[in-house]
Amino acid sequence: MHKLDVSNEKKDKWSAASRRASSSDKSGSTILFSLKNEVGGLIKALKFFQDKHVNLVHIESRKSRRRNSDFEIFVDCDSDHIQMKELTQLLKKHAEIVDVYPSESGLSEDVMSEVPWFPIKISDLDLCANRVLMYGSDLDADHPGFKDNIYRKRRKYFADLAMSYKHGEPIPHIDFTAEEVGTWGVVFRELNKLYPTHACKEYLKNLPLLTKHCNYTEDNIPQLEDVSNFLKERSGFIIRPVAGYLSPRDFLAGLAFRVFHCTQYIRHSSEPLYTPEPDTCHELLGHVPLLAEPSFAQFSQEIGLASLGASDDAVQKLATCYFFTVEFGLCKQNDGLRAYGAGLLSSGSELKHALSGKAHILPFDPVVTCNQECKITTFQDVYFVSESFEEAKDKMRSFAKTIRRPFSLRYNPYTQSVDVLKDTNSINSMVKDIRHELDIVEDALNRLNKHLRA
Ligand SMILES: [Fe+2]
Repeated sequence: MHKLDVSNEKKDKWSAASRRASSSDKSGSTILFSLKNEVGGLIKALKFFQDKHVNLVHIESRKSRRRNSDFEIFVDCDSDHIQMKELTQLLKKHAEIVDVYPSESGLSEDVMSEVPWFPIKISDLDLCANRVLMYGSDLDADHPGFKDNIYRKRRKYFADLAMSYKHGEPIPHIDFTAEEVGTWGVVFRELNKLYPTHACKEYLKNLPLLTKHCNYTEDNIPQLEDVSNFLKERSGFIIRPVAGYLSPRDFLAGLAFRVFHCTQYIRHSSEPLYTPEPDTCHELLGHVPLLAEPSFAQFSQEIGLASLGASDDAVQKLATCYFFTVEFGLCKQNDGLRAYGAGLLSSGSELKHALSGKAHILPFDPVVTCNQECKITTFQDVYFVSESFEEAKDKMRSFAKTIRRPFSLRYNPYTQSVDVLKDTNSINSMVKDIRHELDIVEDALNRLNKHLRA
């Protein structure tokens, strides 16, 4: 499970590069003008653009709605103010100019400069994945391994590996000790007794696949690199090793890029069924089987996307929703309630308690859930139940719309980056992509219809 204090982290403001990019003298404009339907009319008009050294970015034509014999031409171009003035004067002599307007009308730099820094592309996670709140051998006095110098040295080894990790590198292979494998085995056996009656059906579907592809067995601790490759094929999620607790803002930012930060160390052998912090048993047995499920992966990413650039207060609320779903969530299934939260699926005692019939259970509603107190060292006072991941995702999506943020974001899977929808150009670009997708849908329907009629 994860601590949820939003630390008073330094607010890095929107990148200077972004400010520089928009201070250029040239800016985008769209000109809309009409042409008579005559031979060479368009060539003449375009010659004016060439003469005035105005770059054409995009051009479209359509039949005029005003005069049936005319055509209307839309031209997106890059130009400075003087070029545009001279060009419009020239065009006015030969065509009726319908409109000229800046194509990039968007949020001002002042507005964007107030937005907390957030990663734009997946490799930007290298800039925030090492801001751990607790590091390596720095264990609290009540930690089971506090007095064990060998364990503390081992923890430092894992922390150093994670701190030197960069996006795109293979995750280091670990030669786990016999003691570590023994501890994993105790946890594995204990929890596997409960899963058939307590875990949700998605978990039960994916666990055998992990046994097959990533060697999930009681006498082997799976390697994070194998697990990451498996997840990538199933849901697009990948794993990134982390040295310890991240702030909620940094942890949720990873989810936006379908990156799950995973610890690689094992809890102390003196208390195999207890850990005061997430360890690799919690990650591998609690989180990974659900992250392989596409609908759950989408739900997790939506929380991450909502957190990017949000205020500290909004991030805290999202982190609390994350806590009561991804960590401690319950869902309704055919024969009653089942667990999907990783904090439950990696803790036998709390798993039994949550589904004992004695726990306090409420329907998941982000507006209510976001104000619930998160318990770190005791069982939760209340658990929240969802009908399905789809329903939880829809509720989170509605809740995310209430979060104050001056722009929307969309994830671009081709570039593994987020597009910040803060001006008309970026929104237009998204519209074009959606049109393309709809074309594919239309084409697919047409082909199917033809095939069915044949
Ligand atoms: Fe967790």
